[in-house]
This record gives sequence, C-alpha cells and structure tokens, in this order.
Amino acid sequence: MTDGISSVLKEDRKFHPSKAFTDHARLSSRMAYDSLYRKSIEEPEEFWRDETRDLHFREPFKTFSEWNLPKAKFFEGAKLNVSESCLDRHLTTSARTRAAIIWEGEPGEVRTLTYFELHREVVRLAAAMADLGIKPGDRVAIYLGMVPEAAIAMLACARLGATHSVVFGGFSSEALRDRINDCGAKLLLTQDGAWRRGSVIPLKKMADVALEKTPSIENVIVLTRIGAQKAPLEMKAGRDHHWHEIIRKDHSEDAKKRSQHPDAFDAEHPLFILYTSGSTGKPKGLLHTSAGYLAGVHVTSKYIFDLKEGDLYWCTADVGWVTGHSYIVYGPLSCGASCFMYEGAPNFPNPSRMWRLIEKHGVTIFYTAPTAIRAFMRWGDEHVQKHDLSSLRLMGSVGEPINPEAWVWYHKTIGGDRCPIVDTWWQTETGSIMLSTLPGACYSKPGSTGLPLFGVDIDVVDDRGAPAKAGEGGKLVIKKPWPSMARTIYGDEQRFFDTYWKPLENMYFTGDGARRDEDGYFWVVGRIDDVLNVAGHRIGTAEIESALVSHPSVAEAAAVGRPDDLKGQALVVFVTLKDSHKADETLKKQIAEHIDREIGKFARPDEIRFANALPKTRSGKIMRRLLKEIAAGAVELKGDTSTLEDFNAVAALRSDEE
Ligand code: WTA
Repeated sequence: MTDGISSVLKEDRKFHPSKAFTDHARLSSRMAYDSLYRKSIEEPEEFWRDETRDLHFREPFKTFSEWNLPKAKFFEGAKLNVSESCLDRHLTTSARTRAAIIWEGEPGEVRTLTYFELHREVVRLAAAMADLGIKPGDRVAIYLGMVPEAAIAMLACARLGATHSVVFGGFSSEALRDRINDCGAKLLLTQDGAWRRGSVIPLKKMADVALEKTPSIENVIVLTRIGAQKAPLEMKAGRDHHWHEIIRKDHSEDAKKRSQHPDAFDAEHPLFILYTSGSTGKPKGLLHTSAGYLAGVHVTSKYIFDLKEGDLYWCTADVGWVTGHSYIVYGPLSCGASCFMYEGAPNFPNPSRMWRLIEKHGVTIFYTAPTAIRAFMRWGDEHVQKHDLSSLRLMGSVGEPINPEAWVWYHKTIGGDRCPIVDTWWQTETGSIMLSTLPGACYSKPGSTGLPLFGVDIDVVDDRGAPAKAGEGGKLVIKKPWPSMARTIYGDEQRFFDTYWKPLENMYFTGDGARRDEDGYFWVVGRIDDVLNVAGHRIGTAEIESALVSHPSVAEAAAVGRPDDLKGQALVVFVTLKDSHKADETLKKQIAEHIDREIGKFARPDEIRFANALPKTRSGKIMRRLLKEIAAGAVELKGDTSTLEDFNAVAALRSDEE
C-alpha cells in the first residue's frame, strides 16, 4: 500500500473516539463536521468570518477571495498584524499568565514563557531589529535550533512586517548561503551552538562560512545558548551583535513605537518564505502571506487538535520545517494554547526521553511523525511502560504515510487505546492541514488521512484530470484555491505556475498519489514526482544529483528511493566516475561527506553504488524505474558487484519503456 513500508498488518478496522473524548470535543458528530464542511464550501465568506472572529483584525475583510490562476488573493481589504493575534489578543484574557511555551533543553533545564513574557520578548527583539534598520518587506534569515527564541524571532519579524526565512539547523553552510542569497536577507538570527545528543552543533561557526558569500546580510544577532567554553564565538565588529545585549539597549522612539504599537499590514502582505525540495536542483522558496495563512492554521489547530484551556500541546517537529511554523508557532499561539517544546534528540540520554517528558510535564496532545513512531517501536515497549502517559488525550501523525502496524502500536502503546489519532496530510505549499479526521467527530482508519478540512475541495483524478472512481488510484489534486496556500515561489512566478497549476488544468497538483475509498476517506500513497520522503524529510532527487556531480570525481549521478522499514524511503545513489578516479570505500566516504557539506547530514545517502555507466534508454534518458528496482533488490544482477557495477546488461534487456 505505502511505497516503502512493509505493511505486516492488514488493518481495516474503524476506530471511533470514546464517549469520554466526544463529550468534551469541539465537534462531536459526523453530522456536525459535514454541515460545517458544507458551509465552508457553499458559504465560504460567512464560514471564514465566523471562524476567524477570535483573531485580531484592525480592518475586517471586504471580499473573501479573488482568483485569476495561479494568482489568488484572500480576505481583501483586511488589515492586520499577525503577531497581535498570537500575542496581544491574549494579554487581556486569562491567557496573559498562562504558559505560551514550556521548553525543556536537551541537558534538562526548563524554561516557561507566559503569553505576557513571550509578548515582552518579541517586543524587545522587534525593537532591536527596527533599530538595525529592518523595515516591512525586508527579508530576515533565521538559523536557530529548537529554542524559544526561534518562535520569538519569527513573531518579531511578523510584528515589523519583515519576511522571515527559517533555515533548518541541520542544513549546511552552503545550503544556508544559497537560501540567504536567493531571498536577499538583510539580517541573520543565529545562535552559538545547539545541543544534539550531548554534543554541540556550532551554528554560528557554520553561519560564518556562509556569511563569507552573502553580500545582502548587514547584521547578525547571535544568541548565546551554549557558552564560550563549548561554543566559542568570533564576533565581527559592526556586523555581529549579542542577542541579550541588543535587546536591552536604549531603543529609538521609532523602534519603540513599531515594536509596541505595531503597524497593520494588508491581508496579502508577505509573512514568510520557506524553502523546500522540488524536482529540479534548486530549492523552491515558497511564499506565504498574512491573513489567509493565519486563518488556515488557526482554524485547523482549533478543530484538529481540539485545543482547550488546560491542554499542553506538543508538536515534535523542528521549527525549520513547515510543521514547526504552522503547528508550533502560528496555529497554536493564535489559539492561546500552551505549547511544549523540546530542544534535543528523542533518544538522549536514552530511548525513554520522550515518555519521560510527557509524564513530567503532563502533555495532553502529542503530534509526531511516522518515522519517529517506527523508531519508538523498534526501541522497545519497555521504555514506554516505565512512564505514566495517562495525561495524553489526543495524538497526531504527519509528514509521510503511516503504516497500519505503526498506527495500531501508537494507538495502543502510547495512547493506551484511549486517544484518537489524527493523521494529517498537508505540505509546505498548502500552509495548513488539508486532510485529517476531526478527533471527536469522525472515526479513523489506520493508514488513511481521512477527510477534507474546511474549505478544501480535494480529489483524486486520472492523468487527464477526470475524477477517479472510489478505490481507484490517481493523482491527488486540490480543485480550488484555499486561504493558506503559498502564493508564489519567491522570485519565480513561472516555476510556481509550471509546477503546481500546469500539469492538470485549473487544479493544484500536489505531487502525491492517492485513492479515495467508498467512505470518502483518502489514502495517500506518497510522492509520484521526483521528490523523496526520507524519514519525513523532503529531498529532491535532482537536488541530490546536482550536489553529487559537483564533486570532482563524479561524472554522472542518479538518486532514487528504496523502501525502508524505518525511514519509509531510503536514499540510494548511483554514481559514475570521471576517468582515473578509483571506486573504493575512501571515495564513498568522501562523496557522503560532500553531501553533508552541500546540503546537510540529513540528506546523506543510505547507499552509494558505483557503476561503469548508468542504464539509459535509446533516447538517452536514465532508466529510473530500472534503477529503483535494482536499488530495491527486485532485479537480479549478474557479475562482479564489488567495485563497478554494470547495469547496461540489464538495461539492454528492456526496451525503451521509460
Ligand atoms: C507527505 C509536511 C502521507 C506527502 C507537512 C506530501 C504525507 C509531503 C502526510 C509534504 C500524511 C505529509 N500521509 N503523506 N499524513 N503528510 N505527507 O512539504 O508526500 O515537508 O506531499 O510538508 O509529505 O512534505 P512537506
């Protein structure tokens, strides 16, 4: 069923929420979901007006939407400052003294920021940034680990109307440099180092390498997380500023005003750019704007996570990915939720860390990824059983297809057969969750991502765009623009159109394959384009290939996915070498390190195979399907495979089929 995961268990049970859950759920019947969904499609203007009533708009919207594909506008006429919905609006309610963020560092220290304190920190940082000359529309790069300052930095940008571009802390200097240069960021926020499994990742040092070739950066704000002993800093005079010093400076009147009484911006004012992999070597900077994005993440957080006063919600994603943007920062904070945030690795110092955290802090909602769930399974139930997880009431999954076996384990072992599971399907491009089951309203089926969210007109179609029959596989498409969709690829409108709106006329193509069953439930199979999903990370095969061929000994390269029980897909690369280069283990290691440098360690191939030539069709196209089969071990290879493999013999047996 899923590409990559052996589905040991064929699971077609329906899991209904318990009465204990539905009794207190925001939506507690299928009928309630159906009628609200219908309203969102038939009377969108009224739906969104009602559902965004809690948010802070300085001016209400006049027109709900206007589109001339691929350009869409939502909530025209509205004026808002996104940070006011996440912060200021809570200062006049009981949320003022409620924890906004409870954070635990990898070494074990705990920090709590109430909404009052989070607001204060955001105002301070925004004032410092304003004094460094940050104006509405300026781009700000953020290269931080999992610390509360990541949320503070994003919200400070939103407050000033600056566009943030968060770069995941696992990316290399080169990847950071390219992203800074693509968006022309003026300011970088980073930290001395980040804890990972007891050692320090020297983020500022890595940033320094990138900064040698980023002419647009004028200033750098550096957070001290680790300290000089383990993470010594080289501060460049005039450019680099210590976070804790700069926020305490005497700020100008203008900076005070813009941070304390921020400007309101148009609904379509840019909020952030987030880079993601596509089918070419160059990552795409997806641009999200203000009102539509905020509305999408707010409404989905409220209904899917059923957030209530007293909940402690934990999304384990990194802030560097879209899940962190939408469901650690903007969604839950716009709902006034208390969010738990953890800095380090899930198995540090031992495999029970996550369960210890849930028990210690009383986490009630837990949202994680299938790769993590499969790792927890592998580490063994004994690590879970030592801990009291009875505080949990709802759990979620995101990022890749979940195999029924992992789903059922998660439900039983972590959720004590008590907690509904929301499997949420969405993308960096969609901004907010598009498919899920509302926990108190709809039953779930292990492996299915459920039903469409409000305002989402989604379908499975064939290659010509005609709807597929129930149970039939096809392409997953969204038929109408929706408020939280990305508006463009930064600086490349044409690519935005070509990638998403051109493959199927008048529809947004997701790049995923799926089917819809007789009950209307969606089953997402995985990517059908040249994008891999390795351990929940989106990796473009072309991106890997272009990094590989930039190595001096590599002539040609092809990257493909191989099914993997733990990661969903593993990354296998086939490489041919330039004359005189010898295929051996040393070169393999060099090539792996080259990928670490060019992209980041998370993109390191699981397997590197040397070939004397890549199998090609007569028209010269690399036979990817064949390579996939070879990677999966499905095609028998004859001959000596110890050094250079010869795929041409197998290729010759195939016609020009690809
Ligand atoms: C995959 C992550 C199956 C899918 C939020 C999509 C999923 C890509 C699910 C987007 C899910 C995400 N079930 N597949 N619940 N959630 N995907 O942009 O292939 O990092 O297109 O966004 O992840 O990855 P991205």
